[in-house]
Amino acid sequence: TLITNIAVLVTNDPSLGRGSPRSSTFESGGETPLGLVRDAAVVIEGDRIAWTGDRSKAPATDNRVDAGGRAVLPGFVDSHSHLLFAGDRAEEFNARMSGRPYGAGGIRTTVAATRAATDEELEAGLTRYLAEALRQGTTTFETKSGYGLTVADESRALRIAARHTDEVTYLGAHVVPPEHAGDPDAYVALVTGEMLDACAPHARWIDVFCERGAFDGDQARAILTAGKAKGLHPRIHANQLSHGPGVRLAVELDAASADHCTHLTDADVDALAGSRTVATLLPGAEFSTRAEWPDARRLLDAGVTVALSTDCNPGSSFTSSVPFCIALAVREMGMTPDEAVWSATAGGAAALRRTDIGRLTPGAYADLLVLDAPSHVHLAYRPGVPLVSEVWRRGVRVC
Ligand code: NIG
Ligand code: FE
Repeated sequence: TLITNIAVLVTNDPSLGRGSPRSSTFESGGETPLGLVRDAAVVIEGDRIAWTGDRSKAPATDNRVDAGGRAVLPGFVDSHSHLLFAGDRAEEFNARMSGRPYGAGGIRTTVAATRAATDEELEAGLTRYLAEALRQGTTTFETKSGYGLTVADESRALRIAARHTDEVTYLGAHVVPPEHAGDPDAYVALVTGEMLDACAPHARWIDVFCERGAFDGDQARAILTAGKAKGLHPRIHANQLSHGPGVRLAVELDAASADHCTHLTDADVDALAGSRTVATLLPGAEFSTRAEWPDARRLLDAGVTVALSTDCNPGSSFTSSVPFCIALAVREMGMTPDEAVWSATAGGAAALRRTDIGRLTPGAYADLLVLDAPSHVHLAYRPGVPLVSEVWRRGVRVC
């Protein structure tokens, strides 16, 4: 299939990126990491990209699709979500908007609802949020357990998740559940023992909420190290509500990503800059908890790789919309539209240590979006407008 008449193609091809001889620029005249090609075409073979380049040089193919002078970009890679849950917490949100602060304690409300749900109810919820996300351009998503917190409830969440994505994360260490409130060490022993044994076969990643009111640095290190020994790769909820050891622990353990990164010291920023750990920023959470925004500009200027994701969950960020997060990141976090689009595509892929998604280069999966707009800048310029007009996944148009 040939998709032609593309006004602006975002490839995220590093060879077309910053500092290279073919470095591309956008309207502002500034350099961009997006590897832009104007008046472009894309050739898809099977589930992969076979060719990208100038429309006038496109090879002949049987099947031709006219993009109508619109923008094409890689599908969004949402590298952080919590979609295995039941119920919602609209009342808690409502109270927060009249001044009540957010705390980790609300997680227990969702744990109770999730434990009471049937497998079918959990999977129906997941399917619904996935369909929502796909319509808004998410072609790869990561999702976590963390609302079961028993051996049976965590492992069933991961089993259900694994039917829908390869990027499954074991988050038994979300909070200490009520039945272990008096003895958190016993819960850490469960998370690193029997629960890990039951969950590891269904997951790729292990995560821990390292925060006051959840797990401290020593507990988090023990949990992630146990997961590594079982073949899981670490990622961390770090420095969301306060300063803490999470980010430096992520770097120490070579975690793929430190997520949230809202409260950072200079030492945290330096540690990230000297590592291959991605800082995944989740502005839906600051929006929905009315908290201060993470400083993306500071991280980018220090040379840290930044990803943008939704954190979709019923407590702190009930949005499945990556375009919404892009708009917030540009308006509130000091990112340029180009940087935000890169972070929501190639950045998400980096946070999952993948190079086969998040870019439109030969050999990558043909996961792409056609926007109802002449450029990717419109994602931030026209916030709240459903601009994603076509979604292609693995070479097939799905929306
Ligand atoms: O990433 N911070 C920990 N976990 C989620 C929130 C979970 C909840 O409030 O239900 C987050 O924001
Ligand atoms: Fe989260």
